[in-house]
Amino acid sequence: MLRRLYHDQPESFAFTPANQAWAEAQISKYPEGRQASAIIPLLWRAQEQEGWLTRPAIETVADMLDMAYIRALEVASFYFMFQMQPVGSVAHIQICGTTSCMICGAEDLIGVCREKIADKPHTLSADGKFSWEEVECLGACANAPMAQIGKDYYEDLTAERFAEMLDEMAAGKVPVPGPQNGRYASEPKSGLTSLTEFDTGKTKYNASVQLATDIGDTIKRIDGTEVPLIAPWRDKGAMHDPAPSTVKVAKQPAAPEAKPAEKPAKAVAEEKPATKLAEAEKPAAVAKSAEGAGTKPQALEAARDGKADDLKLIKGVGPKLEKLLHSLGFYHFDQIAEWTADEVAWVDQNLEGFKGRVSRDTWVDQAKILAAGGETEFSARKKK
Ligand code: FES
Repeated sequence: MLRRLYHDQPESFAFTPANQAWAEAQISKYPEGRQASAIIPLLWRAQEQEGWLTRPAIETVADMLDMAYIRALEVASFYFMFQMQPVGSVAHIQICGTTSCMICGAEDLIGVCREKIADKPHTLSADGKFSWEEVECLGACANAPMAQIGKDYYEDLTAERFAEMLDEMAAGKVPVPGPQNGRYASEPKSGLTSLTEFDTGKTKYNASVQLATDIGDTIKRIDGTEVPLIAPWRDKGAMHDPAPSTVKVAKQPAAPEAKPAEKPAKAVAEEKPATKLAEAEKPAAVAKSAEGAGTKPQALEAARDGKADDLKLIKGVGPKLEKLLHSLGFYHFDQIAEWTADEVAWVDQNLEGFKGRVSRDTWVDQAKILAAGGETEFSARKKK
């Protein structure tokens, strides 16, 4: 299938405030200069918010990551999980058409899609509520045929039950995910033949379905307030150590414990989202956020003679940090070289999203060498 930008694009895109905070937290997992690594989660969140990836959304994400638009578009158009055209306002249906599902009736399900949604995949239904596509094996072959709808799997489907489900969704209901023929999980249809002591009635649903019903976001568009933002790596300023952070994120309690309705906005606000570029260009606001933390070094209105030093020659300073430093009035190596410990403390505190970087990467020592016309090992390597 040809994957390209849809012919009819909206004017603009903006993350919701909570999604913006979430996105900035993801970016802060990566070391300076490696922010592009956050492209997949950011594009995915944009899609979760809007349903599909618009051109403005792709470009917004590219801007946030200092990437060329074409690089972001390459990623978006490469992965089939990204929808490049509008999807149904209620749900986008993904029918598995691979071997097990095909043998067990996937074609009948596709027939229902053609009849009730649209004759061709990736086309909106007349009322705009649904769209559909055929996808490759989704790994639920023991419960074939199946479909992924939104975030969850609906298994052991028949054409009749599937058609009924679409009607329920159109009427504003969300059918319980999982097997639709009375099976608990993927045990034999006729009942257990081994491990018979296993009590399938222990919980009402199997673990996947239980989680899906607890979270309740099967076909919901995500605005970021569903789960409080937790970003332990950022508060420690440990942007250079993504691996442990990833582990910690994976261990975070799943959404059921984090009740969506429980003051998510407050929780997000308390997380102090990493400074986005636009905010970084507001020195007054930044200075205010750090009251009492050290002393602000002497700043300049603009670079002397309109020519700033290339602060990126300091190890640990990338394009974003350089802009942030400019916004704070720091343009030259000799300015940084003169910072006292008290002033370093102030700057460290005011690098929102990059806190602690000045002392961690010994900027003052590096700046002293560069200001004197020398080279650090890093600057020499970078110039090559
Ligand atoms: S073949 Fe359909 S889920 Fe594997």
